[in-house]
Amino acid sequence: MALIDDLAEATPQLELDRRKALGLLGSGALALAGLGTSIVGVQYLWPNVLFEEDKRYKIGRPEDIPVGQVVVLPREKIYLVHLNEGFAAITAVCTHLGCMTRYESEERRFFCPCHGSVYDLEGNVTGGPAPKKLPRFQVVVDKGVLMIDASKVMDPDFVLKV
Ligand code: FES
Repeated sequence: MALIDDLAEATPQLELDRRKALGLLGSGALALAGLGTSIVGVQYLWPNVLFEEDKRYKIGRPEDIPVGQVVVLPREKIYLVHLNEGFAAITAVCTHLGCMTRYESEERRFFCPCHGSVYDLEGNVTGGPAPKKLPRFQVVVDKGVLMIDASKVMDPDFVLKV
């Protein structure tokens, strides 16, 4: 008889464990749903925009850059050239296959080491396989300071007259 009594007592304990397990499972599912909703909520509040690098560069006062001087901006891949007509911001990226040109001060030219294209200080092709002149960017004077805006490609002959 003792054996049957043991079985009868074991059943409520098993029922309790199953309830507890189902309760835990339900709580876990609710917590997971809450977490998912929170993540979506936070993503909704975060602006869904592409942040682009600012492509405006301060150069300096125009009167500090004499006619004929070339300011090289290697990180920005731009040359600022003070031509007789005004300031020109010229890309340093070769129009052939996109290599970085270099300024050769003794020859007064831009040279592309990849395939030998040569440009004069106005960006015109004077040698090599480059198909067209180097494009120019917008240059303005803002509060007395020269600023290049590399997000604005200008006419190939654009200069800022100061
Ligand atoms: S990339 Fe400049 S000459 Fe070819």
